[in-house]
Amino acid sequence: MAPAEPNANPFKIEGDEPNFPEEFPGWGGYIEWEKYPEKKKEAEAILAKYDFPVPPEFQFAPLPDTNPVLEGVRWKYYHYAMGPTLKDLPDISWKYVSKEKSPDMIHVLQFPYNGEPPRDRLTEITDNKDHFVRNHGGIPEINDDDFFLDIEGLVNTPKRVTLKELQDESIFSRQTRTVTLQCSGTRRIEQIHEYPGDGDELINAPWGEGAIGTARWTGVSLKKVIKYCGGLKEGGKHVEFFGADTYFKKGKVYNYGVSVPMRKVKVNEVLLAWEMNGEPLPKIHGAPLRAVVFGYIGARSCKWLYRINVINDISEAPVQMKEYIYYTPQIGKQNAMYSNGFSIQTMPVSSAIMTPLNHDQIIHDGKIHLTGWAYSGSGWPERVEISGDGGSIWYEVPYDQMSTKYFHAWRVWEYDLPVDAEGWLEFCVRTWDDALNTQPTYVRSAWNWDLHVTSSCHRIKIYSINRSRPATAKRLQMLESKGMSILPITRPLEIDLETNEEYREEMKKRQGRDPVE
Ligand code: MTE
Repeated sequence: MAPAEPNANPFKIEGDEPNFPEEFPGWGGYIEWEKYPEKKKEAEAILAKYDFPVPPEFQFAPLPDTNPVLEGVRWKYYHYAMGPTLKDLPDISWKYVSKEKSPDMIHVLQFPYNGEPPRDRLTEITDNKDHFVRNHGGIPEINDDDFFLDIEGLVNTPKRVTLKELQDESIFSRQTRTVTLQCSGTRRIEQIHEYPGDGDELINAPWGEGAIGTARWTGVSLKKVIKYCGGLKEGGKHVEFFGADTYFKKGKVYNYGVSVPMRKVKVNEVLLAWEMNGEPLPKIHGAPLRAVVFGYIGARSCKWLYRINVINDISEAPVQMKEYIYYTPQIGKQNAMYSNGFSIQTMPVSSAIMTPLNHDQIIHDGKIHLTGWAYSGSGWPERVEISGDGGSIWYEVPYDQMSTKYFHAWRVWEYDLPVDAEGWLEFCVRTWDDALNTQPTYVRSAWNWDLHVTSSCHRIKIYSINRSRPATAKRLQMLESKGMSILPITRPLEIDLETNEEYREEMKKRQGRDPVE
């Protein structure tokens, strides 16, 4: 189906059109909110005037069979309501999807744009066009030449640095690192299928296995930039990042804000990147500059990064404080607080089978070829195991069928799984990292209210047709001789299963249907 047209829904401004101009020339779509409390209040009063449409029910009801799967009307309306600086952002966002992403992306949510690639595109280094995108708002259009980054807060000499300065190797040494970014929503669809959870105002997108990707990111270590600012002042324990996109939460506006602890910066695990796989960072991935935080939930890798604030404690910006919280199964709508769950930072061990796909029907000769990925935010995948029987018997993927080991990236793998059995089988994968961490067995073991971090063994159901078995080989040959296919298995067989003579012969061997005596 053709993608839904952005702006297809009618929206009428109530009263005068608001005017929140851009903060700087050459910074399209960027409104500074954090520095102007009065402006924030004005925006809040505007939002309060409207009765915005509630997000659609997509957990108790089947997901639409469309691409985009969900549209995000409420979020479009928020942007239309803010007047000229933001009203075109849904269109602009879609323009970048068309320009920078593969045409066959699975658009999980049209606006803010959330998209993942078809599974077979998740290669060791993911092509920029195929790397998943997870946005909370529009895509700011900031010119490289007009761009600068402010570093302030608990540093000895707060500074404003331009992109050119950051790229000047006489000031900052450059680094390229292979790093996997994973959205904590990866594989959320499995949790939804098991038990519906929080829908969230900004739709908790029904991601599959593709909200993860690996790139070679080039930039400068944040540690160096802090040193350039004269080092830390007493109490500088966290770095807060701000992105130039506008973020809406419960009737209020913000700039996207998150934080990471300084110890992560000190061990050179936070990169300020302007290149992705040797190409200039695409706009949709955060150009001109983004943070890349190794091993952490993707949410901390702030895109369109324009301000770094060194602070004493964890940021109370809503993305940090109110989102990406992992609750125990007893916590839900009735008792969830911001404080009674984990704040997701380091990503746990997880993995997924990329091919075959769930419900594939496979004709084979005793072995089925599988591919997939394996990742650990706190280490690296050391062993991947596959089960062909739902998790009783496990086979180790040989080390030479796993891709390069990196400190901060996934390993993709492939394996010819011995499969003798026929009919519906459940395949699953689990990974062990270098610290012997592995994955919960079932989705239920790790189900949580906000439907984050689906780290249980990934399971697919496949229908096995084993040609190395004589009866199956005979049936396949017969179908082939008549120009028929056994697939899909649900289509009725148009031939008799055996002749009456064959039936009688066979029954005689089996001592008839009923005993004689
Ligand atoms: N930064 C800003 N400014 N705005 C965002 O919406 N999304 C975050 C993070 N950085 C986001 C952001 C989330 S939740 C993820 S998973 C990653 O970006 C995704 O990065 P990608 O879209 O480049 O794959």
